[in-house]
Amino acid sequence: MSYASETRRRRTFAIISHPDAGKTTLTEKLLLFSGAIQIAGAVKGRKASRHATSDWMEIEKQRGISVASSVMQMSYRDHVINLLDTPGHKDFSEDTYRVLTAVDSALMVIDAANGVETQTRRLIEVCRQRDTPIITFVNKMDREVRDPLDILDEVERELGMPCCPMTWPVGQGRQFGGIIDLRTQSMTVFQPGSDKRPEDFEVIPLAEADKLRARFGQTFDDALESMELAVGASAEWSHEQFLAAKLTPVFFGSGVNNFGVKEVLDAVVDMSPPPGPRKSTLLVNKQPVEKIVHPEDEGFAGVVFKVQANMDANHRDRIAFVRVASGKYTPGMKMRVQRTGKELRPTSVVTFMSQRREAVEEAYAGDIIGFTTHGGVQLGDTITDGPALQFTGLPFFAPEMFMTVVLKNPLRTKQLHEGLMQLGEEGAIQVFKPEAGGNMLLGAVGQLQFEVVQHRLNTEYNCDIRLEGCQYTGARWITADTAAQLREFENAYPMRMARDAADTLAYLCTSPYDVRLAQERFPKIHFHPLREHA
Ligand code: G4P
Repeated sequence: MSYASETRRRRTFAIISHPDAGKTTLTEKLLLFSGAIQIAGAVKGRKASRHATSDWMEIEKQRGISVASSVMQMSYRDHVINLLDTPGHKDFSEDTYRVLTAVDSALMVIDAANGVETQTRRLIEVCRQRDTPIITFVNKMDREVRDPLDILDEVERELGMPCCPMTWPVGQGRQFGGIIDLRTQSMTVFQPGSDKRPEDFEVIPLAEADKLRARFGQTFDDALESMELAVGASAEWSHEQFLAAKLTPVFFGSGVNNFGVKEVLDAVVDMSPPPGPRKSTLLVNKQPVEKIVHPEDEGFAGVVFKVQANMDANHRDRIAFVRVASGKYTPGMKMRVQRTGKELRPTSVVTFMSQRREAVEEAYAGDIIGFTTHGGVQLGDTITDGPALQFTGLPFFAPEMFMTVVLKNPLRTKQLHEGLMQLGEEGAIQVFKPEAGGNMLLGAVGQLQFEVVQHRLNTEYNCDIRLEGCQYTGARWITADTAAQLREFENAYPMRMARDAADTLAYLCTSPYDVRLAQERFPKIHFHPLREHA
C-alpha cells in the first residue's frame, strides 16, 4: 500500500471529558468493539489517575499501566485508529494541551445529567483554538437525566458551534427505550447489560410506527416530537463544516451498557479526518523558512508531544511519544533529533496496543510510536531521517505558582540537578534557574505537579526535598529585537532573571502589575505568557 493510502485509513483522536462522565467506560467499549480487547474491565487501571494524589501515586507505582493505556491503537473496518487519553485532573492540563496537539479530532463525552462541566470547558477551548473537529457523545441516557433539547442547547452555547444530532433518544432512565438513527430512520432498542454486542440490539424502522408506539407508548411520540424540534432548530449535517470545526455531530447512548457506542466508533471512521498537513520550519542557509509537511511526504518526520519516565526506576529510561507526521517508520532506520543534530539511538521502539506494547513493524503519519531512550530527547523535539525540520506549536504555559526547592542532604546536589533537568524535559514541571544564583525554582500550572515531582525526586533520584513558598506568582518569557535591548533589561532586573530547562530567558514576577510596570518601562521588550518549542 502507498503512503497515501496508509495515511488515509488512519484516524487519530483524543477522548475528552470531565472526570466521571464515562470516558474510561467508553474507551473500553471502543476497544472491545474493535476487537482490541476481549473482555470488559481491562482498562480500569486508568481510572486512578484522577482525583487525589494518593491515587495518582498508586498508578504511578504501576507505571506500566499508565504508559500503555495513555495511547491505544486498534483496527476497525480496515482503518487504524489511534486513541489518545487526556489526563482527567485539571492540574495536568498542560499535558492535556500537548496531547491535543498530536490528534486530528476529538471525541467529547458528556454526562447527560450534568451537561458540559468545567474540565470539559477547558478542553473545548483548546480544541477551538486549534480548530479540532469534535464529535459529541451524550452518555448515561439510562439514568434520569436532562432533557436532550436542553443538552443540545448547552453544547451549542459552550462549544460556540451548532450541533447536528445524529441519533436521538427515546425516553431516558427507567423509560429509556433506545435511540433513533436519523440517517437510517430506524430505532435501535435499548437493552441493559454490559455484555451486549452491537448486533444483539433489535432495530425497527420508523416506518413501523404502530409497532413502536405499541411498545413504547407516549415515550415514543414524545421522542418524535422533540426530535422534530431538534432537527428543525439544528444545523444540517455538513461534513465540510464538521472538518472545519464549525459543527459537531451529537450521539446519545449509554457506554456502560454498550449502547450507542458502535455508532460513535463508526463516526470516528466515517467522519473524522485522516492526518493532515503540519506546519514546520526548515533552516535554509541558516534562515528559518516555513515548510508544510504532508502525511504522504517521503521522509520520516515526527514530533515528541509527551515524555514519560519508564517503568523501572533504576534505569533512567524514558519513553518519548512521537506523533508521526510524514513518511514511514521502519525498524533500524537512522533518525536525528533536530534540536541537537544527534542521532537517535533508541533501545526500543514500540507501538501501544491497549494493554501491551509491541515492537513497531512500521508506522505512518497519524500513528503514535514510543522511543525508549536514556535521554537526549525533550518535549517538542522533532525527529526526522533527513531534513532539519522543526515542528512548531507545542506550547508551554507560563507557570502560575512557584516553589523553591530546598535539598535536605546537600551531598545529593548533583542528583537533584539531574532529576530536575529530566523532569523538566518531561514537562512534569518547569524548572527555573535564577541568573543570580540560589535555589532552583519550580513553576507549575497545578498544585499536584509539585507533589508528583517531590515524590518522584525521592523515589527515582533518592533526593529528599522540601518545597518552600516564594514570592513569585508568575513568569514571562522575554525576547527583544536586539541583544542590547535585552541586556539593558537584564541589568535593570538582575534578581528577576531566570532560565528554564530549554535555556530560555524568563522574567519572574510577583504580581500582574509587575509585568505591566516592566512593560511600561521597557516598551521594546516582548513578554510572552506562552513559549512554543522552537
Ligand atoms: P471517567 O473515566 O470519565 O472518569 O468515567 P468512568 O468511565 O470511570 O465512569 C464513571 C462512572 O460512571 C462509573 O461508575 C461508570 O460505571 C459510570 N458510567 C459510565 N457510563 C455509564 C452509563 O452509560 N450509564 C450509567 N448509569 N453509568 C455509567 P462508578 O460507580 O464510579 O464505577 P464502577 O464501580 O461502576 O466501575
